[in-house]
Amino acid sequence: MSRLPPLSGIPADLVSAADYQRHARQRLDENALVYLEGGAADELTCQANLQVWQEWALLPRMLRDLRGGHTRCRLLGQELQHPILLAPVAYQQLFHAEGELATAMAAGVMGGAAVLSSFSSTSLEAVAEVAQGPLWFQLYWQGDGERTLALAERAAAAGYQALVLTVDAPVSGVRNREQRAGFQLPEGVRAVNVDESPRLPELQSGQSPVFDGLLALAPRWDEVAWLCRHSPLPVLLKGILHPADARQAMQAGAAGVIASNHGGRVLDSQLPAVKMLPAIRQSVGAEALLLVDGGIRRGTDVLKAIALGADAVLIGRPYVHAQATAGALGVAHLLKLLREELEVGMALCGCRELADITPELLVRL
Ligand code: FNR
Ligand code: LAC
Repeated sequence: MSRLPPLSGIPADLVSAADYQRHARQRLDENALVYLEGGAADELTCQANLQVWQEWALLPRMLRDLRGGHTRCRLLGQELQHPILLAPVAYQQLFHAEGELATAMAAGVMGGAAVLSSFSSTSLEAVAEVAQGPLWFQLYWQGDGERTLALAERAAAAGYQALVLTVDAPVSGVRNREQRAGFQLPEGVRAVNVDESPRLPELQSGQSPVFDGLLALAPRWDEVAWLCRHSPLPVLLKGILHPADARQAMQAGAAGVIASNHGGRVLDSQLPAVKMLPAIRQSVGAEALLLVDGGIRRGTDVLKAIALGADAVLIGRPYVHAQATAGALGVAHLLKLLREELEVGMALCGCRELADITPELLVRL
């Protein structure tokens, strides 16, 4: 099947995240598409992440004075034009020749921030060089504290402003869609920043490759606290769902928490993170930095996430669809669409700024 090349302009029919998905499906090969769109097992969590937003409806307020309104927010001392961050997504050269470079450029141009994956297919220094705005670096634990800290220090030296330690994937998900399609990374696409992956311990007979292999290399709470103490940058923990874990993260010295189920790619049947947001907010307190991701496809989803307690959100697959369709231009355009949707949503709900988006705006259906 012949695939369409990336676009160099934006056609008039591209007006939403769903339109970018449709265009991306005509451009990506099967291998890249199963990796991007697939999830764990029966993909129940992937589906739930998309559907969960319909459980709340907006109850708008009229006739307020909204002059001077805006979508700006402050995260870790940095002002952003909008609260929609680009989530860490591995191996972006699978999707477009410019890969992570396109992502970083687009986020900055649109006044927002992007998080670079540990499994970036472009060197973290090269991405920092083209970035036009704040970049955060997503860390996978590198088997021990020293190696993890070395990678964190490399990111800090390159100009990254925060670290996002992903804690929900010490073992890869069972991704049946990838398995059926025989997914593999094409020649030339690899995790260039972490070339030497940590060595797995040798297993004695009867030992489990999961518990005694991969989990032996995974971090535990005391190591997270150690990392937070020694890190040159603030550390957020990504992949937290339980309010008690969120509180423990803050006690361990984290600068914030990203409520997430990894886009339904790791453990199937997990809860959509947004369901736990109010309880997590309550558990960490009003001042803690709290972000959420999973299934956000509309400005009204962003509104709901903020009403439920988030300071900001991340999107994953939608910006990769935009990147596959039209590179950096596509990603910037998608961010523009989502920011405008948020702006219109706020205006129609009677919210002048993000702080006006409160739980009273939502009715549980
Ligand atoms: C991811 N995600 C991810 N997360 C992470 O911490 N490190 C990573 O390297 C990756 N890689 C990755 C690859 C691909 C192809 C996808 C789709 C996702 C998870 C990502 O950061 C985010 O949590 C989800 O993508 C959010 O859900 P949506 O917006 O894709 O529904
Ligand atoms: C993924 C890993 C790389 O979700 O986080 O594919």
